[in-house]
Amino acid sequence: MKIDHIGIAVKNLQDALNQYEKILDKPTVQIEEVPSEKVRVAMIAVGETRIELLEPLSEDSTIAKFITERGEGVHHIGLTVEDIKSSIAKLSEAGLRVIYPEPRLGSHGKTITFLHPKSTKGVLIELCQLPK
Ligand code: CO
Repeated sequence: MKIDHIGIAVKNLQDALNQYEKILDKPTVQIEEVPSEKVRVAMIAVGETRIELLEPLSEDSTIAKFITERGEGVHHIGLTVEDIKSSIAKLSEAGLRVIYPEPRLGSHGKTITFLHPKSTKGVLIELCQLPK
């Protein structure tokens, strides 16, 4: 397992990118819309991991609700798993709250689900299986 990315909720993707491009020297950025999550995503490579900037595409996006309630900031930590279905089964069995019992398609072809912050001491954890 490793940390795949750190997700940060932002109001405006271009504004956030301008800021992060100042911090990270000439970063590689990939932008994509993820309709299932109602977000526009910018993935910024940082060594072996990434910073994922998330801009809500609509008011009912979970990212829009997060920003309204808590402001911009760290939203989740993404961890890679080998086999997401077996991880979901194992963690559900262990009593953790899995938000999507059936994994969904995330950005860049990844298959994802989330662990509820109530199960993880307040931090939303995204599990991602990388495309084969
Ligand atoms: Co993510």
